[in-house]
Amino acid sequence: MDVFEALYTTRSMRRVKEDPIPEEIIKTMLDAAIRAPSGSNRQGWKFLVVTDQETRKQLGDVYRETWDYYMKEFYGGKPDLGASGVGDDKKANQVIRISKSAGWLAENFHKVPAHFLIFSRNDPTGSSIFPAIWSLMLAGRAHGIGTCLTTVMSFKQKEAFEILDVPDDKGWSLNAVITAGYPLGKWGVAERNPVDEVTYLDKWGNSPNWNLEEPLWNY
Ligand SMILES: Cc1cc2nc3c(=O)[nH]c(=O)nc-3n(C[C@H](O)[C@H](O)[C@H](O)COP(=O)(O)O)c2cc1C
Repeated sequence: MDVFEALYTTRSMRRVKEDPIPEEIIKTMLDAAIRAPSGSNRQGWKFLVVTDQETRKQLGDVYRETWDYYMKEFYGGKPDLGASGVGDDKKANQVIRISKSAGWLAENFHKVPAHFLIFSRNDPTGSSIFPAIWSLMLAGRAHGIGTCLTTVMSFKQKEAFEILDVPDDKGWSLNAVITAGYPLGKWGVAERNPVDEVTYLDKWGNSPNWNLEEPLWNY
């Protein structure tokens, strides 16, 4: 796959089939992930791949509880993730779509065939773990695997550690859970605020005199 296709179309694919991911693909995703850079090449990471049905069920219960907690704490229990306050219909619809999709994942976490739990230590900012996470997701995309980067489980790290026998005295943190499976939906280019709206040249406030309304790569 062309690298730009992977970069432009690696989206949050939460809705996936229950079919298992072949071990060869799981290995490829992990092998790509560990090629990523980390500060001083410390590689302070561990990847725990969960495919076992019972373990997925136990983690799924924790994920759902955490998602409910997150929705209550940050969005006052409003299921639309605050879309009504966005003002712009297109953006509000986008937020509603994300909210529905994220809710689907919380309900169906146990049915997703593989979860990559990503742990790091000595990386308080997370700047050394996220390149590896993104590489794992891009490698999945290249094999037609849909992934979603999730972080809510970190609110209930203790519960997750207990389920997975992770030692709690060795400095490990749970940075993310990457859910993975064959997508139910279609791949598409991520819609974002355009480059010229978020870029300055040479000095803060000096906007470019070009604009990029459309993505430079498309199908
Ligand atoms: C650091 C980070 C944390 C995220 N945490 C969650 C999460 O806990 N649950 C979830 O469903 N999506 C999570 N997401 C996915 C975002 O909601 C998603 O990337 C964003 O809405 C853009 O959608 P797209 O990836 O489909 O373009 C997270 C993304 C990032 C980068």
